Amino acid sequence: TTTPIVFSGMQPSSDSLHLGNYLGALVNWVALQDEYDPIYCVVDLHAITVAQDPKALHDNVRRTTAQYLAAGVDVERSTLFVQSHVPAHTELAWVLGTMTGFGEASRMTQFKDKSARHGTDATTVGLFTYPVLMAADILLYGTDLVPVGDDQRQHLELTRDLAGRFNSRYGDTFVVPEALIPKESARIYDLQEPEAKMSKSSASEAGLVKLMDDPAITAKKIKSAVTDTEREVRYEPHTKPGISNLLDIYAATTGDSIAELEARYAGRGYGDFKKDLAEVVVDRLTPIRARTLELLEDPAELDRLLAVGAERASERAERILREVYDRVGF
Ligand code: ADP
Ligand code: NA
Repeated sequence: TTTPIVFSGMQPSSDSLHLGNYLGALVNWVALQDEYDPIYCVVDLHAITVAQDPKALHDNVRRTTAQYLAAGVDVERSTLFVQSHVPAHTELAWVLGTMTGFGEASRMTQFKDKSARHGTDATTVGLFTYPVLMAADILLYGTDLVPVGDDQRQHLELTRDLAGRFNSRYGDTFVVPEALIPKESARIYDLQEPEAKMSKSSASEAGLVKLMDDPAITAKKIKSAVTDTEREVRYEPHTKPGISNLLDIYAATTGDSIAELEARYAGRGYGDFKKDLAEVVVDRLTPIRARTLELLEDPAELDRLLAVGAERASERAERILREVYDRVGF
């Protein structure tokens, strides 16, 4: 029996993950460990497509790792490692880059958005070839399934195209991966601008719930979340995005259904609801924050776990890279 392989990663580009990363990705990562063979990567090579302070980047790799572990990623059941520790990622990315059309890469909407925002002169080749590195990340492990949000769907399509192209040119080498769309995938919006996705690059700090925030700050941010001029706790994402986002957060945190929550808070106004939401979120995040801080007290142990992970990942990645080089004629 072969257990399907899952690959996913997050950038170590902040000192704290946020509630969107947690409810939208990390909770799912932890659940996947029961049925799959997951490979979870701290994607530092991707992170440097945006300028990073070296000391902060180094710290944030450990901090991100500690948060994964504290949330329940288990190194016995997952391969957890740092992307730059496994050189095969950049090596395969080069080969795949030679097979990627310039026009094809130019059509990636995430690149188009970013380069439009910053201008072509401030845009780097690294940002342009980012999806090729992502394809290498995935294809190096014979990945069957990739949990992806909407924003990465196009990159996964490119990965599939590259795998198919390589296989037909050189013979069957890569598994062509599929998207894994979780049954309940929470998409969390900014608490102050509920039309925008909660993101580490959020405009306002107040709209961003960080895993590493002090519990009192988390409670304050939730109680100050933007709602609307009505008082009714009702799920209507288009007309009532603020309260609908809070209902989604509540449901994703406790497992209650939206209908149950609407019934429970009928006629009680937003104040009561937000107060309870602050409590359930703080209860959920407090042990994760505490465990993260505990793990960070022993950086040598984190480094040891990452070294073990890198060794396991390398062994797997090298097998496929060697086959690729062989087929290419190296
Ligand atoms: P950010 O948008 O803060 O830069 P990333 O793009 O690094 O976060 O995303 C890391 C992971 O977290 C991805 O799997 C992504 O789908 C998930 N994620 C990020 N923001 C949210 C959100 N607001 N709601 C749900 N999932 C999210
Ligand atoms: Na992002």
